[in-house]
Amino acid sequence: RRVAVLKGGWSPEREVSLSSGAAAGKALIEAGYDVVEIDVDRDLATRLVSEKPDAIFNALHGQWGEDGCVQGLMEVMGIPYTHSGVLASSLAMDKQRAKAVFEDANIPSPQGVIVTRKEAAGGQVMKPPYVVKPNAQGSSVGVFIIRDGDNRPPSELTGEKWTLGEEVLVEKFIPGRELTVSVMGDRALCVTEITTALAFYDYEAKYSAGGSKHVLPADVPEEITDRCLDLALRAHQSLGCRGLSRADFRYDPDADGEQIFCLEVNTQPGLTPTSLSPEQAAQLGISFPELCAWMVEDASC
Ligand code: DAL
Ligand code: MG
Repeated sequence: RRVAVLKGGWSPEREVSLSSGAAAGKALIEAGYDVVEIDVDRDLATRLVSEKPDAIFNALHGQWGEDGCVQGLMEVMGIPYTHSGVLASSLAMDKQRAKAVFEDANIPSPQGVIVTRKEAAGGQVMKPPYVVKPNAQGSSVGVFIIRDGDNRPPSELTGEKWTLGEEVLVEKFIPGRELTVSVMGDRALCVTEITTALAFYDYEAKYSAGGSKHVLPADVPEEITDRCLDLALRAHQSLGCRGLSRADFRYDPDADGEQIFCLEVNTQPGLTPTSLSPEQAAQLGISFPELCAWMVEDASC
């Protein structure tokens, strides 16, 4: 079977996607597929007409590749593609609108509000500590944590160079620990705890070798593991996701009442050498070529 791996693109996560795509392409060749890797540009449709793939492995991240746009093109062209469809991709990419779906499904998520980037830079939007992030980006690009006594608004937010969207999400900061769970179809895989010596699990921590440590399975009470696995599967289902996704959580062991909060679902989780989902699959005995082959066989349109 001929599989086209879509990678690159022109979102701020281009480099991450080139890495995910290269890894997936190699794995699919190992798994016995005939692979063509396409560095996606605006002429994607033309490329696909000439390459005639049987399926698309979507290794794009961020704007256009993860938000339903490319998914819509695949639907129109009638080519089966991996990961979530149009609606789930758009919903998951819009962090605040995804929160509304989570609330409906009884999935706790930190309190958040959408403001313009100018409002976010203009002063305190809620009682610190809180997080300011572009509402529809990934890999922690443009994320700021505003802590107690920290009145300095991030100047990047008002700068001319800001290209991360006018809507920013201001979200209550949940102290404690960072946990993540990948979902493969109807199965939540495993809980990983991420620790970093950097200020938080930002772009550098995510993609530099040694930028963060992954503990899997996470060393947390069994009921916390079970709760995260259940919430990740329900979050995936509530948005209508398909194939592989990854839900990110904050765990506040000192909180009275709710201790686990879902930050978001990533419908195109990273597949780079430092990424979390391939590691979780491996923990369950699913090799990376097996994971990628499963995604291709699960592809639809
Ligand atoms: N947005 C990055 C690729 C992730 O969620 O893994
Ligand atoms: Mg994300």
